[in-house]
Amino acid sequence: MTRPPLLGVNIDHAATLRQARYRGHHASPHAEPSPLAFAREALAGGADGLTVHLREDRRHIQEDDVRALAALPGARLNLELACTPWMTEYARRLRPAAACLVPESREEVTTEGGLDVAGQRDRVAATVAALAAAGIEVSLFIGPETAQVDAAVAVGAPVVELHTGAFAHAWGTPAADAELARLRVACEHAHRRGLVVNAGHGINYDNIRVLRALPHLHELNIGHTIVARALLTGARAAVAEMKALLRGDA
Ligand code: PXP
Repeated sequence: MTRPPLLGVNIDHAATLRQARYRGHHASPHAEPSPLAFAREALAGGADGLTVHLREDRRHIQEDDVRALAALPGARLNLELACTPWMTEYARRLRPAAACLVPESREEVTTEGGLDVAGQRDRVAATVAALAAAGIEVSLFIGPETAQVDAAVAVGAPVVELHTGAFAHAWGTPAADAELARLRVACEHAHRRGLVVNAGHGINYDNIRVLRALPHLHELNIGHTIVARALLTGARAAVAEMKALLRGDA
């Protein structure tokens, strides 16, 4: 019996809700909801880790949030970051347990495509080396393509996070099976090449029933659906429900 994937809870959208009202004064004592309080509840519900994306435009998570989360006892923090010198230096100073390199463009609502590792090997390799030298476990957020997996190996990353967005987008249509097959091939290939395999983006309480059967999954990073569910049930229950789904209990 293989162990179920770990659950990294992405709390960006707790901050999205706060920023919708408190942009420019998120440090106000009245600012709500608090991503830190959300994170505490997520941990109480069984989250194995916390993920945040400090975006260049600071549209949701702020540097204050990252600082507070990094100091939270018992929380394994995964910082998503763009492959830029400023962010690399920021991560090296913060020293989160893990960092995930993601593409970032100002126009997209959230991270829509994987990082093109194959197309910018030198830049990604230098960033991976700089983060690893600070003791940070580095992953690369890539599309489920064997060429990108091979490029991740070539640049020295120990972990990949496979982008499940295309599958999630196709969910409920006949195209979902082909997307699932692509993910399966990428999981197998990454595992064979010695990489730790994570996955994330667009996973919800429904499609997880299919995704959880993918081979070699170490961790899933799930955000939007948990924050959305938490509005109705509270974060603790929302996370506990997703954990039960990952175990196959529900
Ligand atoms: N993994 C990565 C690399 C992401 O950028 C995101 C957010 O876009 C997620 C996971 C979580 O995606 P979602 O909020 O759709 O669950």
